[in-house]
Amino acid sequence: MKHFTSVTQLGDLTAAFEKARYVKENPFADQNLGRNRTLLMIFFNSSLRTRLSTQKAAMNLGMNVIVLDINQGAWKLETERGVVMDGDKPEHLLEAIPVMGCYCDVIGVRSFARFESREYDYNETILEQFIRYSGKPVFSMEAATRHPLQTFADMITIEEYKTKARPKIVMTWAPHPKALPQAVPNSFAEGINMTGYEFVITHPHGYELDPAFVGNAKVEYDQDKALEGADFVYAKNWAAYSGDNYGKVLSTDRSWTVDSRKMALTDNAYFMHCLPVRRNMIVTDDVIESERSLVIPEAANRVVSAQVILKEILQGL
Ligand code: CP
Repeated sequence: MKHFTSVTQLGDLTAAFEKARYVKENPFADQNLGRNRTLLMIFFNSSLRTRLSTQKAAMNLGMNVIVLDINQGAWKLETERGVVMDGDKPEHLLEAIPVMGCYCDVIGVRSFARFESREYDYNETILEQFIRYSGKPVFSMEAATRHPLQTFADMITIEEYKTKARPKIVMTWAPHPKALPQAVPNSFAEGINMTGYEFVITHPHGYELDPAFVGNAKVEYDQDKALEGADFVYAKNWAAYSGDNYGKVLSTDRSWTVDSRKMALTDNAYFMHCLPVRRNMIVTDDVIESERSLVIPEAANRVVSAQVILKEILQGL
């Protein structure tokens, strides 16, 4: 594997889940693989899980890790070509990227959607520049349109907890006070569409996702109807994708919050969320604290997903 930016690059899912199972049972079996190799993790945006789990995965593989928070201590970076750099940004990304590539063997990048231009975000302009100019394998630690390490961890978690060959997965929009990117729901839809599971996406009108990610999922605007018989409920907020509303919050309707009445409509479903989560906006306290909540196992599997991907990248060096 050279670069990892989408779960579609996992290839055969049975093999990917087997690799995850092996890594989980034998976390230190490949300590020599990363010896004298350096991972550089670059964050344009905040993180708790991605930062810690990816670093832990790299350490399990014997790698050295450097973490750079672009907005804390690094020079402010200009990202647009053609700009007269007479403002507060003393360095251009086009020099910074190859320089960063000199100091490491593998680069992880977190760079969220900016919501200034859908074209800019959906072209993955920042991530693609790292791939083009760093000279090193690059993996996404959540980019503008996808969060593949999260989705792979979610898929591993479903694989571990499912009791049916073809469970019903419901991804539901839930309210949030701020505009959040579509990266997690896009990526989750992309991943679940690879599995052949029954898949329903539910959200208010106006929150339609890019059809390229929705794929074969059924879109149901009645949340109660969507939740009927669900085996897994994946809650997430996202901002509008369509047209002039791109990046806008169209609703904070708390009747979409996942609560115990909603969960009672399901087939005793597990509750999932990638975290961080705003309690009593996205999900009520009792649901997230219930025995059917998988939020902590999902977060734990972030080490596994990152380790499988880093291992593949190291094997390709
Ligand atoms: N789920 C996730 O990516 O968490 P962080 O934003 O804390 O990394």
